[in-house]
Amino acid sequence: MDYKVADLSLADFGRREIRLAEHEMPGLMAVRAEYSAAKPLRGAKIMGSLHMTIQTAVLIETLVELGADVRWVSCNIFSTQDHAAAAIVVGKDGTVDDPKGVPVFAWKGETLDEYWWCTDQALQWPDGSAPNMILDDGGDATLLVHKGAEYEKAGAVPQATEDDPEEWGIILETLRRTIAEKPGRWTETAAAIKGVTEETTTGVHRLYEMAKAGTLAFPAINVNDSVTKSKFDNKYGCRHSVIDGLNRATDVLIGGKVAVVCGYGDVGKGCAEALKGQGARVIVTEIDPICALQAAMDGFQVTTLEDVVGIADIFVTTTGNFNIISADQMSRMKHQAIVSNIGHFDNEIDMAGLAKIDGIEKIEIKPQVHEWRFEDGHSIIVLAEGRLMNLGCATGHPSFVMSNSFTNQVIAQIELFTKTEEYPVGVYVLPKHLDEKVARLHLDALGVKLTTLTKEQASYIGVHVEGPYKPDHYRY
Ligand code: NAI
Repeated sequence: MDYKVADLSLADFGRREIRLAEHEMPGLMAVRAEYSAAKPLRGAKIMGSLHMTIQTAVLIETLVELGADVRWVSCNIFSTQDHAAAAIVVGKDGTVDDPKGVPVFAWKGETLDEYWWCTDQALQWPDGSAPNMILDDGGDATLLVHKGAEYEKAGAVPQATEDDPEEWGIILETLRRTIAEKPGRWTETAAAIKGVTEETTTGVHRLYEMAKAGTLAFPAINVNDSVTKSKFDNKYGCRHSVIDGLNRATDVLIGGKVAVVCGYGDVGKGCAEALKGQGARVIVTEIDPICALQAAMDGFQVTTLEDVVGIADIFVTTTGNFNIISADQMSRMKHQAIVSNIGHFDNEIDMAGLAKIDGIEKIEIKPQVHEWRFEDGHSIIVLAEGRLMNLGCATGHPSFVMSNSFTNQVIAQIELFTKTEEYPVGVYVLPKHLDEKVARLHLDALGVKLTTLTKEQASYIGVHVEGPYKPDHYRY
């Protein structure tokens, strides 16, 4: 078996944590029980690109239990939990000397070159064949396949320009190398793929852009916009893990501090609530009048970043947009202000601009925590080099909330793989009855007692007793 992880001897530790996580992931375990005999994913060759954590380990083993052949990478250079990766490679029945699990190419602290090498490895089976399904988070695997096929069709991979980010040059180099090794590989891969299920807001955004431009090569299910994903993982998950990230990175007392949350979407709402819960005085920035009004109604001061850049102690960007905090703004922050991002990509904070400031010095406090000292002697603390701090500095969202997200993922994989002809190329969300099913699978564990509609009540509000209970346009 081919694989590349940090240390296989961590597998026992990983296995012990996977065992505890399984209990906290009732949705995934219920899906295993429902489908393990039928094996609806038999024949599926799933390439997964999603943070290689303990929770993801339970997802991977669920896909395998349902019959899939899986290869996996992390979708971020800092988010792998090395013990989870080791346990998945070793597998339930394997040993360190004789691993029998799933090929994983991921370790905490990859370079960008290594990251794209890993993505390439997982997109090719040892016999040279391609995957027929992608499970993506942020869209990097989907991007590599699409760009590869596009450049093969054009007959050449373009050169990166000086203005391009460093990572784009690495992506182009990866494509140049792989096309030279096997011409036509990416066109073949794009044709082999029946569909992709996408985990996050940023990846979904990329998919809709491609669908709009007519360049999307295969159908996609937008898992993010299942209600039981974005209204739970993005909100309640970040409500938990933003504090975990700050604590493990700095252990600074949050109570009484001024915290700025940029963006008040699902992630921003969770972060703002958590910081308020710790006693921080929270200020929100927004560009959308609806979200700004929501933040105000929730009791937060809403203003521009420029207004508060010099008085705040903690900054968290949650926008999925770029250039939210500029290098100049960072230079004007208070001494030891903490700057962090929880959005998917690292371009929310201008890290490249920060590094170019005259006389600036970068001091590693510990991995993923850096003090940037300006020439005048004052400094700021940047978490996870501007990458998502909850996965870079802590362990991301806890199992129970990820069980909701990943149950959607598994159902979406089954939908696309088994009902391919029902999904012409386009971007879809799961039907509401499946969204409600995911929620239902998590009620017992919390001791929730649901009220059952009477037939008369159901007909009065125009729904079926067994659901769905809301029209598609309902916003929750
Ligand atoms: P969203 O679209 O619900 O919220 C983003 C908000 O930012 C919007 O309300 C938007 O109006 C606002 N915004 C955009 N530009 C802005 C600007 N210049 N200044 C202030 N506000 C601005 O998206 P969601 O679901 O909250 O996701 C945000 C990001 O977090 C995405 O990149 C997503 O992929 C990522 N994410 C990260 C997770 C993690 O565990 N770290 C979990 C879930 C999502």
